Order: sequence, then structure tokens, then C-alpha cells
Amino acid sequence: MKHKGTKALETDRLLLRQWREDDAEAAFTNWMNDPEVTKYLTWKPHGDIKVTRELLKLWEAEYADPWCYHWAIVLKGSGELIGDISIMRASEYQETGEVGYCMGRAWWGKGLMTEAFREILRYCFDEVGFYRISGSHAADNIGSGRVMEKCGLKPEGVRRRFFRLLLSGERVDIVDRGILREEFGK
Ligand SMILES: CC(C)(COP(=O)(O)OP(=O)(O)OC[C@H]1O[C@@H](n2cnc3c(N)ncnc32)[C@H](O)[C@@H]1OP(=O)(O)O)[C@@H](O)C(=O)NCCC(=O)NCCS
Repeated sequence: MKHKGTKALETDRLLLRQWREDDAEAAFTNWMNDPEVTKYLTWKPHGDIKVTRELLKLWEAEYADPWCYHWAIVLKGSGELIGDISIMRASEYQETGEVGYCMGRAWWGKGLMTEAFREILRYCFDEVGFYRISGSHAADNIGSGRVMEKCGLKPEGVRRRFFRLLLSGERVDIVDRGILREEFGK
């Protein structure tokens, strides 16, 4: 693999770029404090912008590692910061990674995360040399499953009642999906 880290990328409607500490206000306002966005996630709404600032400081520091694949999603037209996408747990020997993403509610349902993730997959397979990208979502999180499906990630199994939602305590099934390099774009 040729690790290139979080290179700035572009699609028709989006700029994907590195996070900066001064993104805190927009990120907090647009989704990081929204319980609807975090409903199926492994973190709770931040509650206080100080939490967001501390997190973004950490994220900025992580770019020193060339294996860090973590983008802020910005709308080209307006320059608004609307979401987050990353490839976590990049493994050099296995050539694998796992996607994670979220976006402000105001921008859901416009095909934007699908557009962002397709470009990340192109970058990961064509430029960096990943072999496999996987993703997992709560079975009830239809929108997330659909993004993965539209991007070509095939269902690979269900972990029954694997995850307990942080806010409601409900136990939900987790669907695992994945795509291989040779499947991308087919
Ligand atoms: C999941 C998420 C990133 C999707 O982003 P998005 O930009 O709205 O996604 P897209 O518009 O590219 O695609 C969403 C698809 O799901 C469909 N969808 C969404 N909710 C749906 C529902 N309740 N029932 C049926 N389809 C639904 C949309 O119609 C669209 O499919 P289509 O293009 O075939 O019409 C966004 O909803 C989000 O940030 N959610 C909160 C955080 C989260 O859950 N992250 C993922 C954790 S695994």
C-alpha cells in the first residue's frame, strides 16, 4: 500500500478535506449535538462545544500519521461544513479498512453521503491500494445501509442484538457489509 493519508478530494458537489480545530462551531451546530444524528452511533451528542473543540484538536494531531484517513465534508457551493467520513482501523498487511460517516440532518436524502463515500472508495482502491473496505450499520438504520448498498458493499452477515443504543438502551442487530477492490465500479 502507498499510504497517502487524508488528501483533499473533490466530487461534483463536495470538497473532502482535513479537519481543523476552527471547524468546531459548525460541526457542533450542524450535527455533533443532534440526538437524531447520534441515535445509532457509538457516541452521544456533545452537549457542550468544548467537547467538540477537544475532539477536533485530537483529530488534527492524528494527521501526523500517514495512515489517518479522516475527512470533513464541505458543500462546494456554500462552503458549509456538513459531515464527516473516515476509514478506520487501516491495516497495512491485510490491506483493509472500515468506513464510518455521519452528516447533518439538513442535508440528508440528497445523495451526498453516497457521493462522498464513492470518492473515498475510489481513492482507497485506486490511489492507496486497499483491498477491502467494510462497513457496519444497525439493521434499522435504513439510510446508512442504503448508502453502503449504493456504493457496492455486499451484506456479509448479521450480528444479532450486538449493539445497545446509547440513548435508548435498545439492543439492535448489526449488519456487516464489504466491498473488494475488484468489485468496485462494476
Ligand atoms: C446515514 C447517512 C450518512 C446517510 O446520508 P445521506 O446523504 O442522507 O445518504 P444518501 O442521500 O446518499 O442515501 C440515503 C438513501 O437511503 C434512503 N433512505 C433514508 N432513510 C430511509 C428510510 N427510513 N427508509 C427507506 N429509505 C431510506 C434514501 O432514500 C437514499 O436512497 P435512494 O438514493 O435510493 O433514494 C445520514 O442519514 C446520517 O448521517 N445519519 C446519522 C449518522 C449515521 O447513522 N451514520 C451511519 C452509522 S453506520
